[in-house]
Amino acid sequence: MANIEWGKLGFAYMKTNTIVKMYYQNGQWGPVISSADDNITINSYAASLHYGVECFEGLKAFRGKNGEIRIFRPDENAKRMQRSAEYLGIAAPSVEQFIEMVKQVVLENQEFIPPYGSGASLYIRPTLIGFGPQLGVKSPEDALFMIMVSPVGAYAGSINEPVKTVIAREYDRAAPNGSGSYKVGGNYAMSLKAGKEAAKEGYKGVLYLDPKEHKYIDEFSSSNFFAIKGNTYVTVDSNTVLPSITNKSLEQVAKDLGMEVERRKVPVEELAQFDEVGECGTAVVITPVGIVDDKPTICGQECKRYTFGDPTKCGEKSLKLYKQILAIQHGEVEDTHNWCIVL
Ligand SMILES: Cc1ncc(COP(=O)(O)O)c(C=O)c1O
Repeated sequence: MANIEWGKLGFAYMKTNTIVKMYYQNGQWGPVISSADDNITINSYAASLHYGVECFEGLKAFRGKNGEIRIFRPDENAKRMQRSAEYLGIAAPSVEQFIEMVKQVVLENQEFIPPYGSGASLYIRPTLIGFGPQLGVKSPEDALFMIMVSPVGAYAGSINEPVKTVIAREYDRAAPNGSGSYKVGGNYAMSLKAGKEAAKEGYKGVLYLDPKEHKYIDEFSSSNFFAIKGNTYVTVDSNTVLPSITNKSLEQVAKDLGMEVERRKVPVEELAQFDEVGECGTAVVITPVGIVDDKPTICGQECKRYTFGDPTKCGEKSLKLYKQILAIQHGEVEDTHNWCIVL
C-alpha cells in the first residue's frame, strides 16, 4: 500500500503507477497500452485542443472490509461515454473494452486504493479525445481513449457540512437543446466564471436554472440536484442536465427504502417547500445543501435566501440514502441490483 495520509486526501491530481490508453486509427482500435508516464504526446492541430472534441467520465473503486475491490457501475459510465462520443461524432470504446481497461488500470494501481474505513476511494477518469492533426471544424477520425486514476477524499464539504450555494442567474452552463446532457469538456469551461465568482463570495456550489426560461432548477456545475419533501425523493427532469449515475442509484435506493420518487420539473420557488436539499454525484455521493441564495447577480447584494434544516448536519433522509449507497459500494450490504464489479 502506498504511503499516503488517506484521511487528508482532497480531490486532486496524484501521480500513480500507470495510465492505460488505446488509439483509434484507420477505423479501428489498437492494442491497450499501459504506461508509467502520464504525459501524452499530441499534435498541436488536434481538434480536442481547438474545438473541445473530448468527453470524459468519472467513477470509483472502493476497498471492502476483506480487502476486496469494488468498482461501482462501470457499465453505466461506458454507455454514457458512448452517448457523448456519438454527440461529438468520434469513435467510442465498446462497453466491454471500457470495463476491461477500467479493471486493468485499477489492478495496476491497487496500492493507491484507500483502505476500508478511511472514507477515501480511487477515482477513475476515463477520457476520450479527438486525436490527429486537422484544421477544419469537423469530427476527427482518430481518437485516443485513456484512463487515469487518483486516490481522493471528499470533493467539497462533507456529509456533515451542508454547503452554501448560489443560483447563477446571469450565467448558463448549457444551451437549450445544447450539450448539457453530455459529459463534454465545454460544459465545464462554461461553468468556470460563475464558479470563480461564487467562490469569491463564499459559496461552495453554483446552481444553474433551465437555460430557456430560467424558471426551473437544472443542476449544479458538477452534480445533480435532489430534494426531500416528506417521504418523497424529488429530482429534476431536464434535457440540459447530465444523467447522473449517482442520482439514478439514489432514486432506486429511495424506492428500496420505501420512499416515493418524483423526477419532474422543479420550479425555483418550490425550494421553500423542501425539507432537505442535496447535490449528488460520484465525487461524494451526497453533499447536503444548507442554503441556496437566489441573486440576480452572484456578486450583487440583493438576495432571497432558502434554508434547509440544521446547517451543521445532513438531513435524516439524505443521510440514510448516503449510507445505503456507501454500504453497497463497500460490500457491507447485499448488492441486490448487481451494481458493483468485484475484483
Ligand atoms: C454536470 C454534472 N452533473 C452531475 C454529475 C454527477 O454524475 P455522476 O453521478 O454520474 O457522477 C456530474 C459528475 O460527477 C457532473 O459533472
